[in-house]
Amino acid sequence: MKKGLIIELCAIFAVLGIFAVLHAQDTDLPPADAQQFWTYITETSPYTEWSFFPGHEGIYPGKSPHGAFLKLYGNPIAIEAAKAGKPMPNGAILVKENYGEDQQKLMAITPMYKVQGYNPDGGDWFWAKYGPEGTVEDAGKIDGCIECHKTQKDYIFSKAK
Ligand code: HEC
Repeated sequence: MKKGLIIELCAIFAVLGIFAVLHAQDTDLPPADAQQFWTYITETSPYTEWSFFPGHEGIYPGKSPHGAFLKLYGNPIAIEAAKAGKPMPNGAILVKENYGEDQQKLMAITPMYKVQGYNPDGGDWFWAKYGPEGTVEDAGKIDGCIECHKTQKDYIFSKAK
């Protein structure tokens, strides 16, 4: 009888623990706000510590309107989906660093972030353009980004390799 109670209590705590973890992951993600998003990708979960997008390791040549050279990082949610060949789920973040010809000078940071219900007509992507120090140059449902990226499946050009 007593043993049964202990097992039951263990089961209850295990379930509560799982909910706590799921909840923490949910609330950790920032809202679709340029400033809070920047704090998230540079302090809460620095993107430079994430993995490169599969098949795009390190710096590689880019094309206009992005930099002459690029680096492409994804948060764990995005990388997992890319590796599995699945569509990007809510919470996926891709951060593109745009470098100049010399491969050293960081010109701009252009991320895209999938936020549930943010923009159903635009794949729910939140777009932003930051200067190298984090100055917000543009953010939100940016027409320019959307117009060009909408030609691609789920608005993504890069193919995971
Ligand atoms: C005229 C077309 C065009 C515009 C405008 C544009 N992009 Fe892109 N973007 C591309 C192309 C092409 C790639 C793939 C480049 C590569 O990695 O070689 C790309 C790649 C990306 C990626 C990596 C994921 C992917 O789709 O491959 C991100 C993130 C990104 N762009 C963000 C932005 C943001 C933010 C804006 C607006 C501020 C923007 N882009 C505007 C063409 C565009």
